[in-house]
Amino acid sequence: MNEISRRQFVTGSALALTGAFAIPRSAKAADAVIDVLLNDSPGTILPDCYGHFVEHLGAVVYDGIWVGEGSKIANVGGIRKSIIDAMARIKAPIIRYPGGCFADSYNWRDGVGERSKRPRRTNFWYGVNSKEVPMDSTSRFEPNEFGTNEFLQFCKLTGAKPYLAANVRGLTANDLWEWVEYCNAPVASTTLAQLRASGSAGSREPYKVEFWGIGNESWGCGGEMTPEEYSQEFRKFTAAYPPFDVPLKFIGAGASSDDLNWTRGFFAKMREKGEGSFRRLHGWGVHHYSWNVSAGRTTDWNAGKGDALDFSNEQYYEMLRQADSLEDWLLKHWAIMGEFDRAHRTKIAVDEWGTWHKAGTELKPPHLLGQQNTMRDALVASISLDIFNRHPDKVMMGNIAQLVNCLQSLFLADGDRFITTPTYHVFDMYVPHMNGKAVRTVCDSPKLSWDRNGKPAEFWSVNGSASVNGKTLTLTVTNPHLTQRRETEVRVHGAKPVSAAGRTLAETDVKVHNTFDRPNSVVPRDHTARIVGESIAVSLAPASVTRLSITLQ
Ligand code: AHR
Repeated sequence: MNEISRRQFVTGSALALTGAFAIPRSAKAADAVIDVLLNDSPGTILPDCYGHFVEHLGAVVYDGIWVGEGSKIANVGGIRKSIIDAMARIKAPIIRYPGGCFADSYNWRDGVGERSKRPRRTNFWYGVNSKEVPMDSTSRFEPNEFGTNEFLQFCKLTGAKPYLAANVRGLTANDLWEWVEYCNAPVASTTLAQLRASGSAGSREPYKVEFWGIGNESWGCGGEMTPEEYSQEFRKFTAAYPPFDVPLKFIGAGASSDDLNWTRGFFAKMREKGEGSFRRLHGWGVHHYSWNVSAGRTTDWNAGKGDALDFSNEQYYEMLRQADSLEDWLLKHWAIMGEFDRAHRTKIAVDEWGTWHKAGTELKPPHLLGQQNTMRDALVASISLDIFNRHPDKVMMGNIAQLVNCLQSLFLADGDRFITTPTYHVFDMYVPHMNGKAVRTVCDSPKLSWDRNGKPAEFWSVNGSASVNGKTLTLTVTNPHLTQRRETEVRVHGAKPVSAAGRTLAETDVKVHNTFDRPNSVVPRDHTARIVGESIAVSLAPASVTRLSITLQ
């Protein structure tokens, strides 16, 4: 294995040594050098790292996804057609549903059977922004028009796998058993299988749902448990299931960002029953939001957050730094997991991530936690996806929060108006990484620095990830600097590059965003990349993400 320490390279002299070969510093005047080590692979990038998240929250489901069968808006069985088409384009691999905090207040039985007979319930998010939200809004009262069958139909239409999150705070292990039976039991085999076939959007055929989340944020809205208490619930909820032709993959409600105690407490308690317990824990669901907070998490969901559109240069850099800190937290959680699960059977699912800005830029008040999405959000996406790409041996899934009209959305929708955001374009640009063999990149460039409350703060100025699919090497790179371009030399070690094509998402103003009136203000464009001898030369614009598609000999 060829090893090169980043510090050795960045601070190093003219020659940084790897196991098998030497990487000389460029003699040319490039601002940045990226070495791509084709013979150093940590594994295959699982498409599920590019996953999504849909919660019954604000306008995610109604009218982001569900417009109803009688709607004038183009739809397939009540599901907005434009969202189906846009998700197919980015090869959406998996969607987590129905929450989030909503999941632990939801009874799946309310959302099955004849749609007209389904009950109305109070939504978990009833009280958020309560002065502005009308009383008859679906943000307050859940009509249950969209339930299990409609969601699974949405998955089928988009080609994504479903990932269902169980209610651990309010329901029992037996309720989950029955939800599994409802979804997966063979044709007409049980009363629940018959209900599945007979209800609205019914399906005789089993859905074969593989991924099941055991609660959500069980340290908080999911039950205020201790990690030890949650470990017991996890074991109870996953103890036994009918093997309906599909192996069930359980995801535990993991920690928020830096909460290492939650991971340690849970894993230690699981271990008391032997290392075999980890066989049932397919994924550990870490959550990581990026925000400009001046206050910690409180019961006020807007507390201390910054604005989606009106932000300072410092807030811009801080947001990117927050996103980037995920890598460090993942490594720390991973190390703790390995102390107890020594074979590392359990991988990490970052099943909620993204930016979280304060209220004020949502399309209208019932769009709870809705926000605009600028180039800054796009770079949070590129930084996060590059982290997943660099750790395919640890990360098995990622789910951006949330798909439409909420937090770092890929889409904004209101009635018949629908647009894609800059974040969507990053997902589109990253599609070639899916199923690629990740290969290591070493980036060498001067650090970027800014003033944080009178003290200097630092950040890398070029970083990214690379993968190989057949003869194509895909390299994605972010230049976070607000004003400086980076003339970059990409050196491929292990094969000769013969051609290169670039695509970039870049705007001179990082606050630029797409609106219903100007839906294409931020879109990716083709970008020049030249083969120069054994290297590729590319100019990275300020505040940009660039993809290079390099053909290898
Ligand atoms: O994504 C919004 C909320 O953030 C989710 O419901 C919850 O899990 C997290 O705190």
